[in-house]
Amino acid sequence: MTIGQFPFTRMRRIRMKSFARDLCRENVLTPKDLILPLFVLEGRGKTESIDSMPGVLRFTLDKLVSEAKKAHALGIPAVAIFPVVSKAKKSVDAKAAWDPKGLVPETVKALKKEIPSLGVITDIALDPYTTHGQDGLLDAEGEILNDETVEALVKQALCHAKAGADIVAPSDMMDGRIGAIREALETQGFKDTMILAYTAKYASSFYGPFRDAVGSKASLGKATKHSYQMDVGNSNEAMREIALDIDEGADMIMVKPGLPYLDIVRRARDNFQVPIFAYNVSGEYAMVKAAAANGWIDEKNVVLESLLSFKRAGAHAILTYHAMDAAKWLN
Ligand code: PBG
Repeated sequence: MTIGQFPFTRMRRIRMKSFARDLCRENVLTPKDLILPLFVLEGRGKTESIDSMPGVLRFTLDKLVSEAKKAHALGIPAVAIFPVVSKAKKSVDAKAAWDPKGLVPETVKALKKEIPSLGVITDIALDPYTTHGQDGLLDAEGEILNDETVEALVKQALCHAKAGADIVAPSDMMDGRIGAIREALETQGFKDTMILAYTAKYASSFYGPFRDAVGSKASLGKATKHSYQMDVGNSNEAMREIALDIDEGADMIMVKPGLPYLDIVRRARDNFQVPIFAYNVSGEYAMVKAAAANGWIDEKNVVLESLLSFKRAGAHAILTYHAMDAAKWLN
């Protein structure tokens, strides 16, 4: 018998007492790991619920600022803003996306004024602004025009940077957009604006409730995003995408969705020395809420376990609709 064998080695010794489990734990979750996504509505004094995302609200600007203050007080370092754009402001060329008086720049300005130390992340993509619900501009055949879309995204990113966004986050998956946005930021006075690249964004069915929340589901109809978002079967391709985005000037990279893609998070963490963020998306949230509402799972424990799993997989930060609840439970 050697020392490495039972009974000399008993793995349960370090699990036996709570203090030892505390000391031996390899990964921990804190509110500082979380980013709260917030949906912003036009108007004032209003909130709306979202059927497929129980517990998540759309807020008008004034209400959104109060919610962000609560998040900040709970220790959440940043929020990510997603606009609900009215039909009247949607167009084929998505020009509302870079309107300096638009919903997002107005929200960014209000947040930076009221809560200067709260990080503000904005989504760079055209889908809330297009009549067809695609993230890019279309040609006559309905195919997404890559390079023309990149030009539009650059205008959108500059508009958000001018409003004071700390981080712009392109979630559109066009080729070359990180380099183009980085160059524009660098040459036009925004050298410190960070870019969080949605690098490994999959053509996933887990985004359904989000599309309800921002109202892009109806615009999209039966169309898909398979010609630009990544194929669900691929992993090496995500590593190529990450290498390109780092080379083009991304500061952090994102894997999306989250829980079904923790293998990608781990590979990213092992292979690249940049901060890795992961998005615990709307469909993941909806499943937990539905099961919890039926009494089939313990919501608090399942949420905290899921979020800790992101850390164990190698994520530095997690975008999650559970952020407020999780921060409350952790405090
Ligand atoms: C679109 C965008 C999507 C999400 C964030 N930005 C949906 C999509 O690609 O259709 C999904 C987030 C979620 O499901 O929580 N640019």
